[in-house]
Parts: sequence; C-alpha cells; structure tokens
Amino acid sequence: MAEIELRGITKIFDKKVRAVNDVSLTIADEEFMVLLGPSGCGKTTLMRMIAGLEYPEAGRVVIGDRDVTDLPPRKRDISMVFQSYAVFPHLTVFDNIAFGLKMQKVNKAEIRRRTEEAAGLVQLSPYLDRYSAQLSGGQRQRVAVARAIVMEPSVLLMDEPLSNLDALLRLNFRAELKRLVADLKTTTIYVTHDQIEAMSLGDRIAVMREGQIVQCGTPMEVYEHPATEFVGGFLGSPPMNFLRVRLETVDGQPRAMLGDHGLPAPATLVDHGSRDVLLGIRAENIEAIPLEGGAAHDGLVSQTLVVELLGSQMLVTGEIGDQQIKVLVRADAPIRAGDALLLRPEADKLRWFDAESGRSIAGSATG
Ligand SMILES: Nc1ncnc2c1ncn2[C@@H]1O[C@H](COP(=O)(O)OP(=O)(O)O)[C@@H](O)[C@H]1O
Ligand SMILES: [Mg+2]
Repeated sequence: MAEIELRGITKIFDKKVRAVNDVSLTIADEEFMVLLGPSGCGKTTLMRMIAGLEYPEAGRVVIGDRDVTDLPPRKRDISMVFQSYAVFPHLTVFDNIAFGLKMQKVNKAEIRRRTEEAAGLVQLSPYLDRYSAQLSGGQRQRVAVARAIVMEPSVLLMDEPLSNLDALLRLNFRAELKRLVADLKTTTIYVTHDQIEAMSLGDRIAVMREGQIVQCGTPMEVYEHPATEFVGGFLGSPPMNFLRVRLETVDGQPRAMLGDHGLPAPATLVDHGSRDVLLGIRAENIEAIPLEGGAAHDGLVSQTLVVELLGSQMLVTGEIGDQQIKVLVRADAPIRAGDALLLRPEADKLRWFDAESGRSIAGSATG
C-alpha cells in the first residue's frame, strides 16, 4: 500500500535528449495509473526512474512517505513486469515464480504457499512443474506477472506487458489483468502505447508527449474532454475529427462556419470577433442524413469518399471542402460513396481548440 509522488522529474540522456521533462504526478494508494503515449515519448524512462534503474537529473520520487530517489531498486518495495518478460527457460514455472523469494531467503514453507497462491491467481496452477521453455507466449507472460505479484510489493510497475502477445491473447489477458490487479489492490503503474488498453485498464490515464504529461484524468475525462488536439487524436479509433472552422456572428447568432454551412457556437467564443478555430467532434457523435436538396438545417454538408464496413458499424469518410471527416454509422445505413450527406454533430459533444496551439479553449456549445 503506497501513494507515489513524482516531483518535477527530469531525465536527460547524453547531455541533450530530454527523455522526461519536469514531470509531476501523484498516484493514489491502490490506484491503477496508465502512462499512455507514442513510442519514444519517455514512458519507459519515467518508469525506470520510479523503479530506480535510472537516476533523474532533477526531481524527487516519493513512495509512501519515503523519498526513494537515492535508494537502489531493491530497497524501493516495487516489482516490475517488462515487455520482454525475461522468464528463465531452464527453470520450472514454480522456480521462476519463486525466484525473488529465494533471493530474499524466505523460508521454504512460505515460498511454497505464496508461489502456489500467485500461480493460482494467474491460472498457472497446473503448470508449476513445467519448464518455461515449454510454455506458450501467453503462459510465459503469466509467469512474469506471477513473479512480480508474489513479492507482494507496495508498487507494481508494468511496461507494455501485453505487447508481445497476439491479438486474442491480449484481449483475454487484459481482462484477467484488470480483475487480478483490482483484487490485489496494489498501487500500479502501467505503461502502454495502446489507447484501448489504457481506456480499459486505467483508473486514470496520464497522456505523455515528448517527455511531458499533456493531460491526466479518468479514461472518460481524457476521451470526452481532451486538453489538446494531440490527446483527442491519440485516443479513439478513429481519432477525433478536427475541422478548421470560422467563428462569426451570422444574423445576430454565434456560428461556426465551414463554407456555406454552419453550426451554433458558444457565444463566449465569438465575443472577440471573427476567427478560425478547430472544431473537435468524434465520429460516433455525428448523425449522417442523406441530403435531399433544399432545407438549410444546422449542419455540415459532406461528399462521401469511402464507406468501410467494420462489422457492427460502418465508417464513412467524407469531404467538406478540402477537409476530411470520419463518421460512424449503423452497418446497414443507406450510404454509398459519392452520396451527399448532411452531418449533424451532437451539440454537447462539440469541442473547441485554438487553431495555432491546439489547446482546448472551451466546452460544449451549451456550456
Ligand atoms: N539509455 C538511453 N540513452 C540515450 N537515449 C535514450 C536512452 N533510453 C531512452 N532514450 C531516449 O529517450 C527517449 C524516450 O525513450 P523511452 O523512455 O524508451 O520512450 P517510450 O518508452 O515512451 O517509447 C527516446 O528519444 C529514446 O531514444
Ligand atoms: Mg517503452
């Protein structure tokens, strides 16, 4: 049981690469925190500093009520699971899981009890006597997880533990891991570049980019209210749509215009006169209606470029002027390439971003 506090952590490699840049983050006791971001953004480096495998150029790492910045890994009461799970092939499953306990010279009876319990948690009980070389990739990864949890650490660190598994195994193991960690109640930091994994597992997600945390919040918060264009684009499949629109007052009403068509906009955004902003809207929050001439509703008009059947839904890629938009509709929607569509985004799902910085500038049209 431990809270983790990162205070202004910086890591510079070779005197110039700022792999982690002034990161501050508090992870609550028993929380499952996901570090999410593209390859190279500094996730592993941040994790290794928490573990004590790298030393920060600046900042402090506090676990529980101890400043552990100057302590070696073995004195930090943490366990780690890595992408390359480094299970010893010439040892049995039992000996692999028990390895850390033996190093700590725990007595034999307790080693047996704890190893069997950990193996049970990851459903490896029938395989305890098997050599790890004889296991599947998924089973080997379970060994790595069991080896970490058997130590009963205050903090569990996992760096892309599922990324070497094939898609189906990953899906199953993700669900198991979620249940397991919820039962253990160990403070967990989990690194991934996979936004679905992050959404599925995290109590909170810290989205990283170029060595910094861009946004930290619950999965719903970061998905629904991205702080920047980057976050909106990184989470979700397809990514959030971003359309460059012009804010202006039309017939006394604040409007976001794209060509001849437009949507109601928050009055506060138009207070300072006309300007270009980015309108963010997710593909699943847009109603697409075949356009039958005439009536000028609120909405945007797009020409359908491609329709792709995804199984339960259909993904429509349309063009509005020189910009593209993606819309998710029912699989049986009567939409074909070439069709003109009236697109009506849900008013409370509209998000607004500064056109230059990409930062969020306001909430929905209603609030
Ligand atoms: N030991 C190292 N020496 C030099 N540069 C490194 C080292 N480890 C990581 N880096 C650099 O630091 C940045 C962050 O890397 P990393 O933390 O591994 O990112 P991620 O885990 O998010 O993919 C990258 O630019 C990477 O090349
Ligand atoms: Mg990494």
